[in-house]
Amino acid sequence: MYNLLKGKKGIIFGALDSNSIAWKTAERVHEEGGTFVLTNAPVAMRMGQINELAEKTGSQIIPADATSEEDLQNLVEKSMEILGGKIDFVLHSIGMSINVRKGKHYTDQNYAWTQKGTDVSAMSFHKVMQTLYKADAMNEWGSIVALTYMAAQRVFPDYNDMADNKAYLESIARSFGYFFGRDKKVRVNTISQSPTPTTAGSGVKGFDGFIAYANKMSPLGNATALDCANYTVSLFSDLTKRVSLQNLFHDGGFSNMGVSDAVMETFMKED
Ligand code: NAI
Repeated sequence: MYNLLKGKKGIIFGALDSNSIAWKTAERVHEEGGTFVLTNAPVAMRMGQINELAEKTGSQIIPADATSEEDLQNLVEKSMEILGGKIDFVLHSIGMSINVRKGKHYTDQNYAWTQKGTDVSAMSFHKVMQTLYKADAMNEWGSIVALTYMAAQRVFPDYNDMADNKAYLESIARSFGYFFGRDKKVRVNTISQSPTPTTAGSGVKGFDGFIAYANKMSPLGNATALDCANYTVSLFSDLTKRVSLQNLFHDGGFSNMGVSDAVMETFMKED
């Protein structure tokens, strides 16, 4: 441990269970000396094990539906009270598509579900940042990170409408990142993570095949949830002060590959 986040205070969204990327991040942030408030949707609190994480990391929990401006205002206000001042880091680790969950094909979407998914997975990031910005809740040189997936740039057919949500999310990071940087010296980035076995990840059709394929394509293999947590810690630390408006691929090299020997082998015929 390096004490990289000593004295820093934050909010972590999206820890559902011990597989969640946000859960691993909370553990690592705690180990690095950061303190934080944990938050999740009220319904997820009932299903998840967030109390266990709160106890382990000495954190308080404030429920908030990330689509509700009222909930977010309450969250930001209370977090500053609990943490005793402004905030240094925020992790947005939230994603959900009802079309994916209910097996609705991309070409046959239920648009009410599409809209809900967009609100939860992408617009919530704007709402979180707008709430923080208006409340002047971030310290200078603070850092905001959201998690995304490469289906925002390339076609992964079964990622469905989440691909569009991620493209929107990444755009919000750049657009809001400009204003947050200019006005408050706060950086905003997205981490584009390898497929990772979590509740949200496993909802994608054919996930097991997909994760094995990505692993064979990547020279370093898939990045795990713990790897992602470590990368996020670096982005919250003072070592990355001028990294902003970036979509940062964290995928063992996958995003720049055309094909790998390991994948080719499965297509080579014996001569
Ligand atoms: P997860 O299922 O553990 O986390 C998703 C979280 O979103 C849950 O804690 C859930 O309660 C929360 N959430 C859903 N609706 C919400 C709402 N209305 N308000 C507040 N929170 C809400 O899964 P995972 O994989 O840890 O997901 C975290 C992030 O990582 C998501 O943005 C996901 O798209 C992204 N990601 C995941 C990958 C994977 O393969 N698992 C790959 C690349 C990115």
